[in-house]
Amino acid sequence: MGQSQCTAFPLPQDHPRFTYAVMTAPLIDPFARAITYLRVSVTDRCDFRCVYCMSENMTFLPKKELLTLEELDRMCSTFVRLGVEKLRITGGEPLVRRDIMTFFRSMTRHLDSGALKELTLTTNGSQLERFADQLFDAGVRRVNISLDTLDDQKFADITRWGRLPQVIRGIDAAQKAGLRIKINAVALKGFNEAELPRITEWCAERDMDLTWIEVMPMGDIGNEDRLDQYWSLKDVRAEYENHYTVTDLAERSGGPARYVRLEETGQKIGFITPLTHNFCESCNRVRLTCTGELYMCLGQEDMADLRAPLRAHPTSEVPLEEAIRAAIEHKPKGHDFDYSRQTVDGRMSRHMSHTGG
Ligand code: GTP
Ligand code: 5AD
Ligand code: SF4
Repeated sequence: MGQSQCTAFPLPQDHPRFTYAVMTAPLIDPFARAITYLRVSVTDRCDFRCVYCMSENMTFLPKKELLTLEELDRMCSTFVRLGVEKLRITGGEPLVRRDIMTFFRSMTRHLDSGALKELTLTTNGSQLERFADQLFDAGVRRVNISLDTLDDQKFADITRWGRLPQVIRGIDAAQKAGLRIKINAVALKGFNEAELPRITEWCAERDMDLTWIEVMPMGDIGNEDRLDQYWSLKDVRAEYENHYTVTDLAERSGGPARYVRLEETGQKIGFITPLTHNFCESCNRVRLTCTGELYMCLGQEDMADLRAPLRAHPTSEVPLEEAIRAAIEHKPKGHDFDYSRQTVDGRMSRHMSHTGG
């Protein structure tokens, strides 16, 4: 970053503390949003093939393209030094990456130091039976699990390769290990519409939070399919209002969801509404892919290669920090997803598994 651009520090530029102050300054983007949330995709692979996320025959990256676990540690630790307080590990499916627990354990030190407030992951749940206890031991306390239906056949249909009982066993294991669970359900017209009460009650019975997500135009699936599937969360909310008293809540979890409470059950329901209510004005996050590309927005193409400065300087993080700051200066205002003209505008050819949701 050119030091002359920095207005946050009144110290003269030849003052010895100037450089230090610039290097440890928090990450602020051009729209005055502080970047405190890093989502890291640790693999593009997945053991499922959800229809809205991947095509059936995906070509995955060769292993040598991936950041090693040590490189992931250097990347994440640098972001933490620059003020990132929330780290969410995603994929693909993060728990299919070989030896990923070594990486989780290496991040525990940032929780212990107090620099990191939350270490968490978004998973399809398939591997939780195996890893729940280890995740808890590494300091993870909350897990987001993607689950769109409670019907065995529909689950197999939408995930193509997934099987519901395996995920339920994963959820059981996670709760037993003491992990708090949030279920993420993509709202899909004609698919899980009729299941809204059942999914809601199931989450209440198990004391799990529930968030609905509007389907976004990511990856190469037909435009017509996407429009046919799209179920606006305005309509989802109206459906809740038919059955419950719905109260808006001011609380936030550091992510994009807005929450409501169902007064009759006391349950909290989240809505992630990239289409009906663009929440970009409060965006606090950036996304690192498994190859070290930093995407400043889920719905834009802008990205910066952080792997090159990382690999070129094995013993210094200064070039990496400079590359991160330069990238944040280009964070766009928001995405351009839009279905309102009965067409899919703002679509991304990139698959969701590339940037991890
Ligand atoms: P918490 O609030 O901590 O539970 O996390 P979160 O909602 O940020 O994380 P989660 O992985 O559960 O995100 C759910 C989904 O919301 C993602 O997979 C995306 O589909 C969507 N999402 C998250 N962040 C953004 C964003 O910045 N822009 C858009 N358009 N969608 C997002
Ligand atoms: N639109 C909305 N959500 C999606 N996800 C994957 N693809 C899409 C899409 N096109 C969700 C998954 C999971 C999270 C990582 O992203 O269901 O909850
Ligand atoms: Fe895998 Fe998640 Fe994509 Fe489904 S949505 S294929 S579980 S990465």
